[in-house]
Amino acid sequence: MKKHRVAQVGVGGRGRIHADAFLKLSDRFDLVGLCDLDREKLNAYAIGKNLSSGILYVDAEKMLADTRPDVFCFVTQPNLRLPMAELAGKYGVKGLAFEKPMATSLREAWAITKLCRENGIKAIVCHQHKYLTSLQKMKEIVDSGDIGEVIYVNATCQAWLAQLGTHYMDYILWANNGSRAKWVVGHVHGKELLSDHHPSPNYTTGHLEFENGVRSYFEFGKLSASHMPRERFWVDDRLTLYGTHGYAWGDANGRWGAFTKSSKGEVIGGEGDVWEVQQSTRLQPLYLAEFADWLDDDSKIHPCNINISYHGYEILEAVCISAMDHIRVDLPIAPEECQDIFERMRRELPDCPERGRPAGPSEWG
Ligand SMILES: NC(=O)c1ccc[n+]([C@@H]2O[C@H](COP(=O)([O-])OP(=O)(O)OC[C@H]3O[C@@H](n4cnc5c(N)ncnc54)[C@H](O)[C@@H]3O)[C@@H](O)[C@H]2O)c1
Repeated sequence: MKKHRVAQVGVGGRGRIHADAFLKLSDRFDLVGLCDLDREKLNAYAIGKNLSSGILYVDAEKMLADTRPDVFCFVTQPNLRLPMAELAGKYGVKGLAFEKPMATSLREAWAITKLCRENGIKAIVCHQHKYLTSLQKMKEIVDSGDIGEVIYVNATCQAWLAQLGTHYMDYILWANNGSRAKWVVGHVHGKELLSDHHPSPNYTTGHLEFENGVRSYFEFGKLSASHMPRERFWVDDRLTLYGTHGYAWGDANGRWGAFTKSSKGEVIGGEGDVWEVQQSTRLQPLYLAEFADWLDDDSKIHPCNINISYHGYEILEAVCISAMDHIRVDLPIAPEECQDIFERMRRELPDCPERGRPAGPSEWG
């Protein structure tokens, strides 16, 4: 097995989880460069992990020019995606790993996807909750046929579209084995979160039909169905598959439940570690180990590959277009002709759809 040389940008809250996993998988990856604009943060992480100061940078391009890595990973806020992906193309990396949301517009999502395709870069976007024991258990039940034929996929999360909506759209596609959406209808309202660093309507809901006939209904943000006390806001998410003979669900709090052919009239369920525990012990190492597998073997395509992420992003954009234009949106959307729907929502959504009540994350969280 080849060791892949990695250079990473960003050691914020999430960047540290990525770097920890690269270090943990020391038989698959070799961290040869680490960069952050914030020198103090960078040094603190490096000292804590006993990393050589020789691999530390404050300039991403200089790091890539010096280290010429196989893999480039960037873990920055959503405002920084395409310029980083362009660096990946310029420095000829083989693998690119970056965080959700994959972009802040469909045009940008497409530009990154195209760049990766044209440069033969294997790229993954970090929708890693599909490795949660709860979602894996749900998928195992569904794939065994114990709920019969799948007819409907439902996803809910309290956090908004660009925060966890992008995750759960990816899990809908994963759960339905990658079938593509044919059409989408949607509703959005509330503009306060369009100025968040993860720009989104306050509430997004949509309905779609896949090419395999399965349908999906999903809702993200305020008003979405809640399954937990408010202090569990960030993991108050659930993916449920309904079949002809029952249902199965999993959540980010480590829980799963089902009613199946073999459960003999009983509702069954179980509980694993919560997301906070699983994210560094399980999710990130599994996600990155499968990236190394894909880098080693073209046939082992990663479940978080950029093509599936792009389709998820396209569906979310279609929901917003449907809501603003009051139409059904048929997919695929021509990305290069696409309007900036987020800018349009900022301009056109009414100020106060919730009749004077404050609407912002502090109210939910
Ligand atoms: N997949 C998940 O479960 C999950 C969970 C949390 C956050 N995220 C995502 O991770 C991303 C990052 O979130 P975060 O909380 O770590 O953000 P953060 O702001 O804590 O960290 C970003 C870091 O990038 C650095 N940075 C920014 N621009 C840079 C540049 N040009 N060169 C070098 N360094 C630069 C900043 O100094 C900062 O340290 C977001 O897109 C967020 O949505 C994903």
